[in-house]
Amino acid sequence: MKFFLDTANFDEIKEANSWGVLDGVTTNPTLLSKEAGQGKDYKQMLKDICAEVDGPVSAEVVSTEKDGMIAEAHDLVNIADNIYVKFPCIPAGLAATKAVRAEGIRVNMTLVFSPAQALLAAKAGANFISPFLGRLDDVATGGMEILEQCIEVVKNYDFDSEILASSLRGPMHVVEAARLGSDIGTMPYDVFTKLVKHPLTDIGLQRFIEDWNKAKEALGA
Ligand code: E4P
Repeated sequence: MKFFLDTANFDEIKEANSWGVLDGVTTNPTLLSKEAGQGKDYKQMLKDICAEVDGPVSAEVVSTEKDGMIAEAHDLVNIADNIYVKFPCIPAGLAATKAVRAEGIRVNMTLVFSPAQALLAAKAGANFISPFLGRLDDVATGGMEILEQCIEVVKNYDFDSEILASSLRGPMHVVEAARLGSDIGTMPYDVFTKLVKHPLTDIGLQRFIEDWNKAKEALGA
């Protein structure tokens, strides 16, 4: 499974990228708005992120009608070569997807909450389809089951779309999405850093170092 970071915070992206396992970034208007006040406009923020990450960086439109979405998409892809445009899964978003895919612009269909929407996104030609698991859980609906159904319906056919498990709220969401065969998972920095943690790793490492230090002289080290 490819790992994307779900943030517009440059320091988080830089740190995660230094681990050598980051495949891309997803942003949205809310995430970009959290970084306001740093003296950078959103285009510069996206430009910096795109330069840091060797992989897709998703940036979302805010228009809700087809022509406005397409115009914003043209603007966004001028920022960098690795921009994927996020369109919401509404009729205008499907139509905009179909139109810009014909021009070679890559699309991440966002705000997907059902397998029916996932199928429509695939049919429109979206490169990434983003079911929002955590937000489904928030309304007492099994997000993971919906992800499973989205994977099933899209993989039953010959679509090129990749499923991007989104709104992941903890390490188990990441593991379960991987077990279901999701192509990609996008997660907040906090979840990303939790993935590596295990108390037995820390205890084991400490013991190895202590044992080595005790026997150092005898070992001629
Ligand atoms: C995905 O691309 C979205 O930005 C994201 O996963 C939304 O997550 P949230 O429900 O935690 O805001």
